[in-house]
Amino acid sequence: MRSIHLDIAGQRCRIFPDASIDALREFCVPGNAVIISDKNVWHHHGHKFLPYRTIEIEPGEEHKTLKTISGIYGQLCAMEIDRSTTIVGVGGGIVCDIAGFAASTYLRGLPFGFVPTTLLAQVDASVGGKNGVNLEGYKNLIGTFAQPGFVLCDLSFLRTLPYDELKNGIAEAVKSALISDRALFEYIEDNCKAIISLDRNVLERIINGCLTIKTDIVSRDEKESGERRKLNLGHTIGHAIEKAGGYRHGEAVSIGIVAAAKMSEMRGALSNEDVLRIEALLASFGLPTRLKSDREAVMDAVGKDKKRQGTAVRFVFLDGIGNAVIETMEIAELEEVLF
Ligand SMILES: NC(=O)c1ccc[n+]([C@@H]2O[C@H](COP(=O)([O-])OP(=O)(O)OC[C@H]3O[C@@H](n4cnc5c(N)ncnc54)[C@H](O)[C@@H]3O)[C@@H](O)[C@H]2O)c1
Ligand SMILES: [Zn+2]
Repeated sequence: MRSIHLDIAGQRCRIFPDASIDALREFCVPGNAVIISDKNVWHHHGHKFLPYRTIEIEPGEEHKTLKTISGIYGQLCAMEIDRSTTIVGVGGGIVCDIAGFAASTYLRGLPFGFVPTTLLAQVDASVGGKNGVNLEGYKNLIGTFAQPGFVLCDLSFLRTLPYDELKNGIAEAVKSALISDRALFEYIEDNCKAIISLDRNVLERIINGCLTIKTDIVSRDEKESGERRKLNLGHTIGHAIEKAGGYRHGEAVSIGIVAAAKMSEMRGALSNEDVLRIEALLASFGLPTRLKSDREAVMDAVGKDKKRQGTAVRFVFLDGIGNAVIETMEIAELEEVLF
Protein backbone atom coordinates (compact mmCIF):
# COMPACT_ATOMS: atom_id res chain seq x y z
CA MET A 1 0.00 0.00 0.00
CA ARG A 2 1.34 3.42 -1.00
CA SER A 3 1.43 5.78 1.98
CA ILE A 4 2.05 9.41 2.88
CA HIS A 5 3.32 10.43 6.32
CA LEU A 6 2.43 13.56 8.23
CA ASP A 7 4.63 14.23 11.28
CA ILE A 8 3.44 16.84 13.74
CA ALA A 9 4.67 17.45 17.28
CA GLY A 10 6.33 14.05 17.45
CA GLN A 11 3.18 12.24 16.28
CA ARG A 12 2.96 10.39 12.99
CA CYS A 13 -0.19 10.14 10.87
CA ARG A 14 0.01 7.41 8.22
CA ILE A 15 -2.21 8.04 5.23
CA PHE A 16 -3.11 5.42 2.61
CA PRO A 17 -4.70 6.90 -0.55
CA ASP A 18 -5.83 3.48 -1.82
CA ALA A 19 -6.39 0.94 0.92
CA SER A 20 -9.13 -1.45 2.03
CA ILE A 21 -11.09 -1.25 5.26
CA ASP A 22 -9.83 -4.83 5.80
CA ALA A 23 -6.40 -3.30 6.52
CA LEU A 24 -7.89 -1.75 9.67
CA ARG A 25 -6.71 -4.81 11.58
CA GLU A 26 -3.13 -3.67 11.03
CA PHE A 27 -3.85 -0.50 12.98
CA CYS A 28 -6.12 -1.67 15.77
CA VAL A 29 -7.28 -4.87 17.40
CA PRO A 30 -10.97 -5.46 16.52
CA GLY A 31 -11.77 -6.34 20.13
CA ASN A 32 -10.26 -3.09 21.31
CA ALA A 33 -11.60 -0.62 18.77
CA VAL A 34 -14.92 1.20 18.35
CA ILE A 35 -16.24 2.27 14.95
CA ILE A 36 -18.31 5.47 14.75
CA SER A 37 -20.36 5.78 11.57
CA ASP A 38 -23.59 7.35 10.34
CA LYS A 39 -26.86 5.68 9.33
CA ASN A 40 -26.35 6.07 5.57
CA VAL A 41 -22.88 4.57 5.57
CA TRP A 42 -24.20 1.84 7.84
CA HIS A 43 -27.05 1.04 5.50
CA HIS A 44 -24.69 0.36 2.58
CA HIS A 45 -21.56 -0.89 4.31
CA GLY A 46 -22.52 -2.02 7.82
CA HIS A 47 -21.49 -5.62 7.06
CA LYS A 48 -17.87 -4.43 6.88
CA PHE A 49 -17.95 -3.39 10.55
CA LEU A 50 -18.80 -6.85 11.91
CA PRO A 51 -15.83 -7.65 14.14
CA TYR A 52 -15.97 -4.22 15.80
CA ARG A 53 -18.06 -2.58 18.49
CA THR A 54 -19.98 0.27 16.91
CA ILE A 55 -21.68 3.60 17.59
CA GLU A 56 -24.19 4.84 15.04
CA ILE A 57 -24.97 8.53 14.62
CA GLU A 58 -27.54 10.45 12.57
CA PRO A 59 -26.28 11.87 9.26
CA GLY A 60 -26.40 15.58 8.45
CA GLU A 61 -24.78 18.87 9.44
CA GLU A 62 -27.62 19.53 11.91
CA HIS A 63 -26.36 16.57 13.97
CA LYS A 64 -22.75 17.81 14.09
CA THR A 65 -23.40 19.08 17.60
CA LEU A 66 -22.33 18.72 21.22
CA LYS A 67 -25.55 16.71 21.77
CA THR A 68 -24.26 14.01 19.41
CA ILE A 69 -20.86 14.15 21.12
CA SER A 70 -22.52 13.75 24.50
CA GLY A 71 -24.39 10.67 23.20
CA ILE A 72 -21.09 9.18 22.02
CA TYR A 73 -19.42 9.85 25.39
CA GLY A 74 -22.33 8.05 27.08
CA GLN A 75 -21.90 4.98 24.90
CA LEU A 76 -18.11 4.92 25.33
CA CYS A 77 -18.67 5.08 29.07
CA ALA A 78 -21.20 2.21 28.95
CA MET A 79 -18.68 0.14 26.93
CA GLU A 80 -16.15 0.78 29.73
CA ILE A 81 -13.44 1.60 27.25
CA ASP A 82 -10.03 2.77 28.41
CA ARG A 83 -7.13 4.68 26.89
CA SER A 84 -5.93 1.63 24.98
CA THR A 85 -9.09 1.67 22.83
CA THR A 86 -8.87 3.04 19.29
CA ILE A 87 -11.76 5.07 17.85
CA VAL A 88 -12.31 4.73 14.10
CA GLY A 89 -14.52 7.19 12.22
CA VAL A 90 -15.94 5.51 9.10
CA GLY A 91 -17.86 8.06 7.05
CA GLY A 92 -17.82 11.44 5.37
CA GLY A 93 -16.35 14.65 6.68
CA ILE A 94 -19.06 14.96 9.32
CA VAL A 95 -18.33 11.54 10.84
CA CYS A 96 -14.58 12.25 10.74
CA ASP A 97 -15.02 15.64 12.45
CA ILE A 98 -17.30 14.16 15.13
CA ALA A 99 -15.31 10.95 15.74
CA GLY A 100 -12.05 12.91 15.88
CA PHE A 101 -13.50 15.38 18.36
CA ALA A 102 -15.03 12.69 20.60
CA ALA A 103 -11.80 10.66 20.50
CA SER A 104 -9.49 13.60 21.17
CA THR A 105 -11.49 14.70 24.23
CA TYR A 106 -12.78 11.49 25.87
CA LEU A 107 -10.43 10.44 28.70
CA ARG A 108 -8.28 13.42 27.60
CA GLY A 109 -7.62 11.73 24.30
CA LEU A 110 -7.85 8.25 22.79
CA PRO A 111 -5.95 7.02 19.73
CA PHE A 112 -8.06 7.41 16.60
CA GLY A 113 -8.08 7.00 12.83
CA PHE A 114 -10.41 7.38 9.87
CA VAL A 115 -11.80 5.43 6.95
CA PRO A 116 -13.20 8.36 4.88
CA THR A 117 -16.11 7.27 2.68
CA THR A 118 -16.87 10.41 0.62
CA LEU A 119 -14.52 11.87 -1.96
CA LEU A 120 -14.54 15.14 -0.02
CA ALA A 121 -13.35 13.36 3.12
CA GLN A 122 -10.78 11.38 1.12
CA VAL A 123 -9.19 14.40 -0.58
CA ASP A 124 -9.54 16.83 2.30
CA ALA A 125 -11.50 16.45 5.57
CA SER A 126 -9.89 13.28 6.93
CA VAL A 127 -6.39 14.77 6.95
CA GLY A 128 -5.00 17.76 8.81
CA GLY A 129 -6.09 17.23 12.40
CA LYS A 130 -9.00 19.67 12.64
CA ASN A 131 -11.86 18.02 14.53
CA GLY A 132 -15.00 19.73 15.73
CA VAL A 133 -18.70 20.42 15.87
CA ASN A 134 -21.06 23.33 15.21
CA LEU A 135 -22.58 25.56 17.87
CA GLU A 136 -25.78 27.56 17.44
CA GLY A 137 -25.51 27.63 13.68
CA TYR A 138 -21.81 28.56 13.65
CA LYS A 139 -19.76 25.99 11.78
CA ASN A 140 -16.91 24.22 13.55
CA LEU A 141 -16.93 26.66 16.47
CA ILE A 142 -15.92 24.00 19.02
CA GLY A 143 -13.00 21.74 18.25
CA THR A 144 -9.51 20.39 18.70
CA PHE A 145 -6.32 20.12 16.71
CA ALA A 146 -5.39 16.44 17.01
CA GLN A 147 -3.99 14.22 14.29
CA PRO A 148 -5.48 10.81 13.50
CA GLY A 149 -2.94 7.99 13.70
CA PHE A 150 -4.04 6.59 10.33
CA VAL A 151 -6.29 7.41 7.39
CA LEU A 152 -7.35 4.55 5.09
CA CYS A 153 -9.02 5.69 1.85
CA ASP A 154 -11.09 2.75 0.59
CA LEU A 155 -12.32 3.67 -2.89
CA SER A 156 -14.95 0.91 -2.92
CA PHE A 157 -17.11 3.08 -0.62
CA LEU A 158 -17.53 5.64 -3.40
CA ARG A 159 -19.70 3.23 -5.43
CA THR A 160 -22.70 3.97 -3.21
CA LEU A 161 -22.06 7.71 -2.96
CA PRO A 162 -24.65 9.90 -4.75
CA TYR A 163 -23.15 11.96 -7.63
CA ASP A 164 -24.06 15.24 -5.90
CA GLU A 165 -21.80 14.20 -3.02
CA LEU A 166 -19.02 13.16 -5.40
CA LYS A 167 -19.20 16.65 -6.95
CA ASN A 168 -18.47 18.21 -3.54
CA GLY A 169 -15.21 16.27 -3.45
CA ILE A 170 -14.35 17.16 -7.05
CA ALA A 171 -14.67 20.89 -6.27
CA GLU A 172 -12.20 20.46 -3.37
CA ALA A 173 -9.81 18.43 -5.53
CA VAL A 174 -9.81 21.18 -8.18
CA LYS A 175 -9.19 23.70 -5.39
CA SER A 176 -6.18 21.76 -4.09
CA ALA A 177 -4.69 21.41 -7.58
CA LEU A 178 -5.19 25.13 -8.26
CA ILE A 179 -3.33 26.26 -5.15
CA SER A 180 -0.21 24.21 -5.68
CA ASP A 181 -0.10 21.59 -8.42
CA ARG A 182 -0.59 22.57 -12.06
CA ALA A 183 0.14 19.01 -13.24
CA LEU A 184 -2.68 17.69 -11.05
CA PHE A 185 -5.04 20.32 -12.48
CA GLU A 186 -4.17 19.16 -16.00
CA TYR A 187 -4.60 15.54 -14.96
CA ILE A 188 -8.13 16.28 -13.72
CA GLU A 189 -8.84 18.07 -17.02
CA ASP A 190 -7.67 15.04 -18.99
CA ASN A 191 -9.59 12.51 -16.90
CA CYS A 192 -13.00 14.03 -16.36
CA LYS A 193 -14.96 11.01 -17.63
CA ALA A 194 -12.80 8.52 -15.75
CA ILE A 195 -13.40 10.45 -12.51
CA ILE A 196 -17.16 10.41 -13.01
CA SER A 197 -17.06 6.66 -13.71
CA LEU A 198 -14.93 6.16 -10.57
CA ASP A 199 -11.88 4.77 -12.34
CA ARG A 200 -9.76 3.47 -9.51
CA ASN A 201 -6.31 4.36 -10.85
CA VAL A 202 -7.37 7.88 -11.73
CA LEU A 203 -9.02 8.49 -8.35
CA GLU A 204 -6.02 7.09 -6.52
CA ARG A 205 -3.72 9.52 -8.37
CA ILE A 206 -6.02 12.44 -7.52
CA ILE A 207 -6.47 11.52 -3.87
CA ASN A 208 -2.73 10.97 -3.53
CA GLY A 209 -2.05 14.35 -5.16
CA CYS A 210 -4.53 16.23 -2.96
CA LEU A 211 -3.36 14.59 0.26
CA THR A 212 0.27 15.26 -0.61
CA ILE A 213 -0.61 18.95 -1.04
CA LYS A 214 -2.59 19.04 2.21
CA THR A 215 0.04 17.21 4.30
CA ASP A 216 2.80 19.46 2.91
CA ILE A 217 0.89 22.58 3.88
CA VAL A 218 -0.30 21.28 7.28
CA SER A 219 3.18 20.09 8.23
CA ARG A 220 4.38 23.69 7.82
CA ASP A 221 1.33 25.39 9.36
CA GLU A 222 -0.78 23.09 11.53
CA LYS A 223 -2.85 25.81 13.20
CA GLU A 224 -3.66 27.95 10.16
CA SER A 225 -1.61 31.01 11.00
CA GLY A 226 -0.37 31.41 7.42
CA GLU A 227 0.02 29.03 4.53
CA ARG A 228 -2.83 26.70 5.55
CA ARG A 229 -5.22 29.52 4.66
CA LYS A 230 -4.49 28.76 1.00
CA LEU A 231 -6.76 25.73 1.41
CA ASN A 232 -9.59 28.27 1.75
CA LEU A 233 -9.41 29.18 -1.95
CA GLY A 234 -13.00 29.81 -3.06
CA HIS A 235 -14.27 29.43 0.50
CA THR A 236 -14.67 33.07 1.65
CA ILE A 237 -17.29 33.56 -1.03
CA GLY A 238 -18.27 29.89 -1.01
CA HIS A 239 -19.23 29.88 2.68
CA ALA A 240 -21.26 33.07 2.21
CA ILE A 241 -23.10 31.57 -0.78
CA GLU A 242 -23.76 28.36 1.15
CA LYS A 243 -25.07 30.35 4.13
CA ALA A 244 -27.35 32.44 1.94
CA GLY A 245 -28.92 29.16 0.87
CA GLY A 246 -29.74 27.21 -2.28
CA TYR A 247 -26.31 25.69 -2.89
CA ARG A 248 -24.45 22.68 -1.58
CA HIS A 249 -20.89 23.11 -0.29
CA GLY A 250 -19.08 21.98 -3.45
CA GLU A 251 -21.35 24.07 -5.66
CA ALA A 252 -20.77 27.16 -3.54
CA VAL A 253 -17.01 26.54 -3.52
CA SER A 254 -17.07 26.12 -7.30
CA ILE A 255 -18.68 29.56 -7.72
CA GLY A 256 -16.23 30.93 -5.13
CA ILE A 257 -13.23 29.52 -7.02
CA VAL A 258 -14.36 31.14 -10.28
CA ALA A 259 -14.93 34.46 -8.49
CA ALA A 260 -11.43 34.23 -6.96
CA ALA A 261 -10.01 33.45 -10.40
CA LYS A 262 -11.74 36.52 -11.87
CA MET A 263 -10.40 38.71 -9.09
CA SER A 264 -6.92 37.30 -9.69
CA GLU A 265 -7.35 38.23 -13.36
CA MET A 266 -8.36 41.79 -12.36
CA ARG A 267 -5.09 42.04 -10.41
CA GLY A 268 -3.13 40.86 -13.42
CA ALA A 269 -2.04 37.61 -11.77
CA LEU A 270 -4.08 35.20 -13.92
CA SER A 271 -4.78 35.23 -17.65
CA ASN A 272 -8.32 35.33 -19.02
CA GLU A 273 -7.56 32.06 -20.77
CA ASP A 274 -6.82 30.43 -17.40
CA VAL A 275 -10.02 31.82 -15.86
CA LEU A 276 -12.04 30.28 -18.71
CA ARG A 277 -10.15 27.03 -18.35
CA ILE A 278 -10.97 26.80 -14.63
CA GLU A 279 -14.61 27.64 -15.30
CA ALA A 280 -14.82 25.02 -18.07
CA LEU A 281 -13.31 22.31 -15.89
CA LEU A 282 -15.75 22.88 -13.03
CA ALA A 283 -18.68 23.08 -15.45
CA SER A 284 -17.68 19.78 -17.07
CA PHE A 285 -18.54 18.05 -13.78
CA GLY A 286 -21.91 19.82 -13.63
CA LEU A 287 -20.71 22.28 -10.99
CA PRO A 288 -22.17 25.82 -11.17
CA THR A 289 -19.75 28.67 -11.85
CA ARG A 290 -22.02 31.70 -11.53
CA LEU A 291 -24.25 32.87 -8.74
CA LYS A 292 -28.00 32.77 -9.15
CA SER A 293 -29.01 33.40 -5.55
CA ASP A 294 -29.76 36.53 -3.56
CA ARG A 295 -26.95 39.09 -3.85
CA GLU A 296 -27.83 40.94 -0.63
CA ALA A 297 -27.84 37.76 1.45
CA VAL A 298 -24.44 36.71 0.11
CA MET A 299 -22.81 40.09 0.77
CA ASP A 300 -24.38 40.13 4.22
CA ALA A 301 -22.83 36.73 4.94
CA VAL A 302 -19.40 37.86 3.67
CA GLY A 303 -19.67 40.83 6.05
CA LYS A 304 -20.27 38.43 8.94
CA ASP A 305 -17.31 36.18 8.04
CA LYS A 306 -15.43 35.37 11.25
CA LYS A 307 -12.10 35.84 9.42
CA ARG A 308 -13.03 39.42 8.45
CA GLN A 309 -10.84 42.37 9.55
CA GLY A 310 -12.98 45.56 9.54
CA THR A 311 -14.14 46.22 5.97
CA ALA A 312 -11.54 43.83 4.58
CA VAL A 313 -11.15 40.05 4.34
CA ARG A 314 -8.09 37.85 3.90
CA PHE A 315 -8.49 36.44 0.46
CA VAL A 316 -6.80 33.65 -1.50
CA PHE A 317 -5.82 34.72 -5.03
CA LEU A 318 -4.29 32.65 -7.81
CA ASP A 319 -0.97 33.64 -9.26
CA GLY A 320 -1.25 31.33 -12.26
CA ILE A 321 -2.73 27.83 -12.13
CA GLY A 322 -0.94 25.89 -9.39
CA ASN A 323 0.11 28.82 -7.22
CA ALA A 324 -1.87 30.72 -4.56
CA VAL A 325 -1.15 33.92 -2.62
CA ILE A 326 -2.99 35.39 0.37
CA GLU A 327 -3.77 39.10 0.47
CA THR A 328 -6.28 41.29 2.27
CA MET A 329 -8.93 42.96 0.15
CA GLU A 330 -11.94 45.23 0.60
CA ILE A 331 -15.28 43.40 0.79
CA ALA A 332 -16.74 45.95 -1.66
CA GLU A 333 -14.38 44.67 -4.39
CA LEU A 334 -16.11 41.29 -4.21
CA GLU A 335 -19.40 42.66 -5.49
CA GLU A 336 -17.88 43.54 -8.84
CA VAL A 337 -17.02 39.96 -9.73
CA LEU A 338 -19.87 38.19 -8.02
CA PHE A 339 -22.75 39.93 -9.73
N1 LIG B 1 -11.76 18.78 9.37
C1 LIG B 1 -11.49 19.31 8.19
O1 LIG B 1 -10.35 19.65 7.88
C2 LIG B 1 -12.60 19.46 7.21
C3 LIG B 1 -12.32 19.84 5.89
C4 LIG B 1 -13.36 19.94 4.99
C5 LIG B 1 -14.66 19.68 5.41
N2 LIG B 1 -14.91 19.32 6.70
C6 LIG B 1 -16.27 19.02 7.17
O2 LIG B 1 -16.76 17.91 6.41
C7 LIG B 1 -18.18 17.97 6.39
C8 LIG B 1 -18.66 17.61 5.00
O3 LIG B 1 -18.20 16.33 4.68
P1 LIG B 1 -18.87 15.45 3.51
O4 LIG B 1 -19.04 16.28 2.32
O5 LIG B 1 -18.10 14.20 3.44
O6 LIG B 1 -20.35 15.25 4.05
P2 LIG B 1 -21.09 14.13 4.94
O7 LIG B 1 -20.20 13.58 5.96
O8 LIG B 1 -22.36 14.75 5.37
O9 LIG B 1 -21.44 13.01 3.87
C9 LIG B 1 -22.32 13.32 2.82
C10 LIG B 1 -23.53 12.39 2.78
O10 LIG B 1 -23.16 11.16 2.18
C11 LIG B 1 -23.45 10.07 3.06
N3 LIG B 1 -22.39 9.10 2.80
C12 LIG B 1 -21.11 9.14 3.25
N4 LIG B 1 -20.41 8.15 2.69
C13 LIG B 1 -21.24 7.46 1.89
C14 LIG B 1 -21.08 6.35 1.02
N5 LIG B 1 -19.89 5.78 0.84
N6 LIG B 1 -22.17 5.91 0.36
C15 LIG B 1 -23.37 6.53 0.49
N7 LIG B 1 -23.59 7.59 1.26
C16 LIG B 1 -22.52 8.06 1.95
C17 LIG B 1 -23.52 10.67 4.43
O11 LIG B 1 -24.34 9.93 5.29
C18 LIG B 1 -24.11 12.04 4.14
O12 LIG B 1 -25.51 11.96 4.01
C19 LIG B 1 -18.58 19.36 6.84
O13 LIG B 1 -19.16 19.29 8.12
C20 LIG B 1 -17.26 20.12 6.90
O14 LIG B 1 -17.24 21.10 7.90
C21 LIG B 1 -13.91 19.21 7.61
ZN1 LIG C 1 -14.65 23.02 1.51
